[in-house]
Amino acid sequence: MSEFVYAPKPIEIVGGDGSYLIDTAGEQYLDAGASFGCAPVGHCHPTVVDAIQEQASSLTFVQGSYPNPTRTSLVKRLASLGPGDCTNVWLCNSGTEANEAAIKFARSATDRSAIVATTRGFHGRTMGSLSATWKPAYRQPFEPLLDDIEFVPFGDAEALETAVTEETAAVIIEPIQGEGGVNVPPDGYLTAVRECTESAGAAMILDEIQTGLGRTGSFWACDAAGVVPDILTTAKGIASGVPMGATLCRQWIADGAGPHGSTFSGSPIAAAAANATLEVIEEMNLTEQAAVHGETLMSTLTESTLDIKAIRGHGLLIGLDVRRGANVLAKQLAIDHGILTMPAGRSVLRLLPPLTIDAAEVEQLVTGIEAALDQEASA
Ligand SMILES: Cc1ncc(COP(=O)(O)O)c(C=O)c1O
Repeated sequence: MSEFVYAPKPIEIVGGDGSYLIDTAGEQYLDAGASFGCAPVGHCHPTVVDAIQEQASSLTFVQGSYPNPTRTSLVKRLASLGPGDCTNVWLCNSGTEANEAAIKFARSATDRSAIVATTRGFHGRTMGSLSATWKPAYRQPFEPLLDDIEFVPFGDAEALETAVTEETAAVIIEPIQGEGGVNVPPDGYLTAVRECTESAGAAMILDEIQTGLGRTGSFWACDAAGVVPDILTTAKGIASGVPMGATLCRQWIADGAGPHGSTFSGSPIAAAAANATLEVIEEMNLTEQAAVHGETLMSTLTESTLDIKAIRGHGLLIGLDVRRGANVLAKQLAIDHGILTMPAGRSVLRLLPPLTIDAAEVEQLVTGIEAALDQEASA
C-alpha cells in the first residue's frame, strides 16, 4: 500500500451499492463524495457492471491504433456530447493526462508557450498539469516546473485580460473550482475569458473534470454560461472509476495538435464502462436530477440555523465553509454518522454525491451534517 503517498483512512472498503460503500464489518456509508467524484451513477450500477463484464469476456485490450467498435462508439458519443464544435476526441487514463494533452495541443496549435492559470486552481499532479495547479504545497517540492505560467486571481476578468497577450498559448480554468474551495466565479466571467482568449488567438481550456457530466445541473458547466471553449477536459466519473480521461477540442486545435499518444488510450474495458455510464446519465436524466437535488440540499442547508459561513456551488457540487477544520468534520461525519465527504481546502466541506442520490439519501445527508455540526458546537 502506498502509505508514503496517502494517509490511510480508518475504514477498509470492500463493497459498493448505489450511494453506499460497505466496509469489512458490513457497515454502510453514504458516499457523499462519490469516491472523489468517480461514481456519478452510484457504485456498481448494473448497466456499468454488465458492460464491463461483457467487454472483458470478448476483448480485454487492444491498443488505440487498432479500430475497435466499443472505443469508436465512445468517441462518437463524446463528439456528440461535446459543447458546440468541440467534437475531436482524445482518450487517456486520468484527469491530469487530459490536461497534459490539452496544454500540449494548445502549445502546438498556437506555436506559443505561455499559459495563464488561476489562483486556487487545481489541474492535476503530473509536471505540466501541476505547473498550472496553484497550491504552493503541491508544487514546491517538485520545482522547477514549466516556467511560462502566470497565475491571476480566479474570477477577476480584468486581471485575466491584462495577463492574456499575443504570446499566450492558453488560459486553463475550471468553470467552478472544486479542490480550491468550491468557488463560483461572478456571472459573465467565462464569457470574458472566452472573449479575451479569442481576440488574442489563445486557446481557452476548460477543465470540466469535476464539473462535467451533469454534476452542476447542466451537462457541462460551460453550457449554463453559454460558452464554448477551444478545449474541454473530462475524467473522474466518466467510466465510473475505471481509469479514463478525455480531451475534446475544436478543429483548429486538432489540426495543429502535434504528436501525442498513450498505450492505454481508450482501452476497450474503460470505453465500455464509459459508454454505459454516459448512457445511464442520459436515460435517467441525471443532469436534471443533479439540479433538483442540489437545489434541495443548498436551500435546506441555507435555511438551517447551523453556523455555516457560506454555502457555494451548483447542482451536486457544493461547498460548505464551516469556519473550522473541514478534515476533522469529515472524519466525524464518517465515524459517527456513516457519511463520507471530502474537504476542499482548510475550512470547506465538499459534497459531491452520486447524481443518482435520492430524496431520502439527501435527507440523511442533511441530518448527518446538522448533527455533526451541532456536536462540534457543543463540544
Ligand atoms: C478539476 C480537476 N482537474 C484535474 C484533476 C486531476 O485528475 P486526476 O486525479 O484523475 O489526475 C482533478 C482531480 O481531482 C480535478 O478536480
